[in-house]
Amino acid sequence: MRVLFVCLGNICRSPTAEGVLRHKLRAAGLEQWVRVDSAGTGDWHVGKAPDQRTRLAAQRRGYALEDLRARQVEPADFQHFDLILAMDRDNLADLQRLRPAGAPAALDLFLRRYQLAVDEVPDPYHGGAAGFEQVLDLIEQACDGLLQEIRGRL
Ligand code: 4NP
Repeated sequence: MRVLFVCLGNICRSPTAEGVLRHKLRAAGLEQWVRVDSAGTGDWHVGKAPDQRTRLAAQRRGYALEDLRARQVEPADFQHFDLILAMDRDNLADLQRLRPAGAPAALDLFLRRYQLAVDEVPDPYHGGAAGFEQVLDLIEQACDGLLQEIRGRL
């Protein structure tokens, strides 16, 4: 199974989701069965490591993000992934526009798919430290739902 997380810059929310899911897959002994990646709809941060605030907040909860590098989502991703999960509605709308006709990937809003109380992971980039903790709280919860889906599909 192949899962792609998508946000705007690929330096805060989607690399966090990538790191959290990898961590949970490893703990469950399922890492070898699932390919995990992340990308941004924008290209401003291509090649960069995750934002330092994101890295530090993740590190405090035991997730290592420093080896990740930002890339922009591309039409071929819709051929190469089974499931593409958007962090907010803007990301979802951008992905719907980019999606080639007939492409096999399922596309969904990450939090909605796993029935959290809110639908979107708020963009933390221009806010304070609490935003980065909220991103982690939401993503950890949604990744538990995703892990259950993965178990059911493997
Ligand atoms: P992300 O956060 O989409 O979660 O990676 C952002 C990162 C950078 C910008 C916006 C959001 N930016 O405007 O540069």
